[in-house]
Amino acid sequence: MVFKKKEKKVPKGFNSVNEFFDYLYKKEDLIWMGQNTNHLQKVEAIEDALIEASHKRDYCKYPPPEGFPELKQLILEDLGLDENIFDVQITASATESLYLAISTSLYHITNTIASDPGYLIINNFCNRFGNHVKEIPVYNEEHGYKLTPQLIRENIDMETKLIILIDPLNPIGATYTKEEIMEIAEIAKENNIIVLHDITYRDFAREHTLVAQYAPEHTITVYSFSKIFGMAGLRIGAVISTPDLMRPMRASVINDLGTNVLSQEAAIAGLKTKDQWIDEIKQTCFKNQELIKEAVDETPGTFLPVYPSDANMMVIDISQTGLDPVDLAAYLLDEKNIFVREGNYTSKLFGDRYIRVSYSIPTEEIMVFRNEFKDAVETLQKRQNIIPK
Ligand SMILES: Cc1ncc(COP(=O)(O)O)c(C=O)c1O
Repeated sequence: MVFKKKEKKVPKGFNSVNEFFDYLYKKEDLIWMGQNTNHLQKVEAIEDALIEASHKRDYCKYPPPEGFPELKQLILEDLGLDENIFDVQITASATESLYLAISTSLYHITNTIASDPGYLIINNFCNRFGNHVKEIPVYNEEHGYKLTPQLIRENIDMETKLIILIDPLNPIGATYTKEEIMEIAEIAKENNIIVLHDITYRDFAREHTLVAQYAPEHTITVYSFSKIFGMAGLRIGAVISTPDLMRPMRASVINDLGTNVLSQEAAIAGLKTKDQWIDEIKQTCFKNQELIKEAVDETPGTFLPVYPSDANMMVIDISQTGLDPVDLAAYLLDEKNIFVREGNYTSKLFGDRYIRVSYSIPTEEIMVFRNEFKDAVETLQKRQNIIPK
């Protein structure tokens, strides 16, 4: 069966989307604010683990199929989840975890509740395996730019099986209070619904609560090493649930011979040293946010819907400038060497209102954005004969 997938738009000057990303990847001096990867991670333990494992040529062996027990254990400890209740499957990234969770939770008559803005790849998976996705508009102050328990209650029907809770939310950085998480856990239990708790950005948040603590039987937690660990290119993550929910996921694993051993060794090193480096990365991210806020505050027609953000990215609303986010992103890339993301990558309804900027990069690079942003908006307005409101 061939599934329908939205075609990605090929950026001007490139033959394909792949060519565009290859160009970005290879451009060493690029200011990387367009993907939520982490360029602040400097811990040598991760690098050493990769080197040591490759020197030992560990990679000639297959790893255990569920992942190294040490790594599974470290992930549960990191989350404070009880090993007698929860099980872990190591995957080749949160993306694989999402696919496993969604493909085993939904079927052709069940539907999903998700937010707009959100991470649209998840919704693509849900549309593929379930009946439809209710993309609830959350880009407003009234709902705090997030999928609140009230919105979830209002949108549940008899066939709802999955709630997509991206927390903190890509692209906007909103997170949930403990009370909200407890209420969402109750909703899941009352209605026999699964919460897919995507905690990819958890470690950037000031505070964070796991749904799994309050509704273990109704939660699938998706974990990534791509963000705070700075290991996006190593493609490693995990999915965590009770054994009952894990059984079908494990039966659906494609990569039955396990996940990349070097990535697993690096993940172990990252977890073992996490308390030595996490605070510095978080502090730099908060400082970088402040600098971006300064730039936004002095640029007429722009504002930050959520500040501070609890992720390593935030949204800058430019709707009152009269500019199209696609044009602003193209201008910053072509003329200022700054890669940011236009809103339509994370929202169907509000994508024309904002750009998304990631800031887990060195502060000197954020300073370039800080100094260029206002000028970029004004230059583009002049070029397009837009008279600022
Ligand atoms: C909410 C969310 N989940 C999952 C992912 C993918 O993570 P991974 O690199 O582990 O596949 C991303 C990537 O940006 C994301 O924003």
